[in-house]
Amino acid sequence: MTAPSKEALNTLTPVLTKRWLSPDAWQLSVYERLDGYTALRKALAAHPDDLIALIKESGLRGRGGAGFPTGMKWAFIPQNDGKPHYMVVNADEGEPGTCKDLPLMMADPHSLIEGIVIGSYAIRANRAFIYVRGEAVHAARRLRQAVADARAAGYLGTDILGSGFDLDIVVHSGAGAYICGEETALLDSLEGYRGQPRLRPPFPATHGLYSSPTVVNNVETICSVPYIVLGGAAWWRTMGTEKSPGPKIYSLSGRINEPGQYECGLGVTLRQLIELAGGMQPGHRLRFWTPGGSSTPLLTDEHLDVPMDFEGMAGVGTMLGTTAVQIFSDLDCPVYATYRWIEFYHHESCGKCTPCREGCYWMAQILHRILAGKGTHEDLDTLLDSCDNLLGRSFCALGDGAASPVQSSIKYFKQDYLDYIEGRKSPMMVSSLVGAH
Ligand SMILES: Cc1cc2nc3c(=O)[nH]c(=O)nc-3n(C[C@H](O)[C@H](O)[C@H](O)COP(=O)(O)O)c2cc1C
Ligand code: SF4
Repeated sequence: MTAPSKEALNTLTPVLTKRWLSPDAWQLSVYERLDGYTALRKALAAHPDDLIALIKESGLRGRGGAGFPTGMKWAFIPQNDGKPHYMVVNADEGEPGTCKDLPLMMADPHSLIEGIVIGSYAIRANRAFIYVRGEAVHAARRLRQAVADARAAGYLGTDILGSGFDLDIVVHSGAGAYICGEETALLDSLEGYRGQPRLRPPFPATHGLYSSPTVVNNVETICSVPYIVLGGAAWWRTMGTEKSPGPKIYSLSGRINEPGQYECGLGVTLRQLIELAGGMQPGHRLRFWTPGGSSTPLLTDEHLDVPMDFEGMAGVGTMLGTTAVQIFSDLDCPVYATYRWIEFYHHESCGKCTPCREGCYWMAQILHRILAGKGTHEDLDTLLDSCDNLLGRSFCALGDGAASPVQSSIKYFKQDYLDYIEGRKSPMMVSSLVGAH
């Protein structure tokens, strides 16, 4: 392992992660000692519209995958409509490789609560929900304790800090379905229905939770809010790039020496991230990687120096997604990795629409057949044809995401597929049944 250079270390921008190394930062007293809830006092003294304007000015873009401008989303909430408004935090974190929201909630739950109170005040919501991934029992427990502590200290409940503003937060555990991270499926699940995406329009901004105006934001997005309130939009824009400002937590996993969370300005490159992570593991050379989870098309070692912001990734035909950077080496097989991802999509497809329900099933079967040494050249065409039927034709973005690893792995690694089909590579699977290994 090589120690990161001074230049690489300078790319770190610990803003959201700044308290992670302080012992017990999840406790209210420690949080308060480390600037906690000072942004809330400042925010409650401001007009809600000015807060929305500030978030717009900062250029903050959603950290849940799509990068939608947060201030604009908040501004869509109609005012004086006589309906209750809701703030819903998406803490489902199901995208393969993503691991930033859970550590944020475990290490610094009050920063999320503070962000929720500020955001709710801005959009005039008096009830907020945190929808936590079902498996993350530890995070739900920590959040519930933090909510109780914040309420006892007057940061939640009625007349928060004497401002006249009321807010309560409900921590809700899901049942462990990837589709419930899709915002409209999440809302259905929160209402007690089976979690499946809703037809849009109408959008959650007008018809969200209980058919009322609702903002759905990712954990990291909301955790960014108190820092922007304290530091200002201009300071926030000193990090990242012009169109993708601010810091971002990159989750690094795979064949590197020090996997983990690295917070850098948006636009850092993979080369810099790998250096921060102590380099590739001995004997491994980078071969392919995902910039933002398995739903974002794969990249290769040609893309080591492309800025990892929304524009940079779009420029090379992929997406920034959740910045779940999964790093694979020359000892890893792109066909097998693709098969494992498609098994995941097949398992998680909610079944509501035919292209995804059938497409994921068939793609998993075909990939398995190729890996079992029984594939044909037509199988490659059928895989690409399935992708065409998924992209833009699925009811929600899960279907589009499932096409990403297949299309991109065939684009960059067709020879690996042909090696299985033409018998130059030994079969990896013995059975011809998906899921039988
Ligand atoms: C299948 C699927 C799963 C998703 N899972 C998550 C998730 O776990 N967390 C999340 O914040 N967004 C997830 N999203 C994106 C949300 O639909 C939504 O765009 C996001 O929560 C908006 O928050 P943001 O604007 O702060 O990014 C998912 C989308 C899809 C299609
Ligand atoms: S694309 Fe997949 S997950 Fe989305 S609605 Fe259709 S079947 Fe369900």
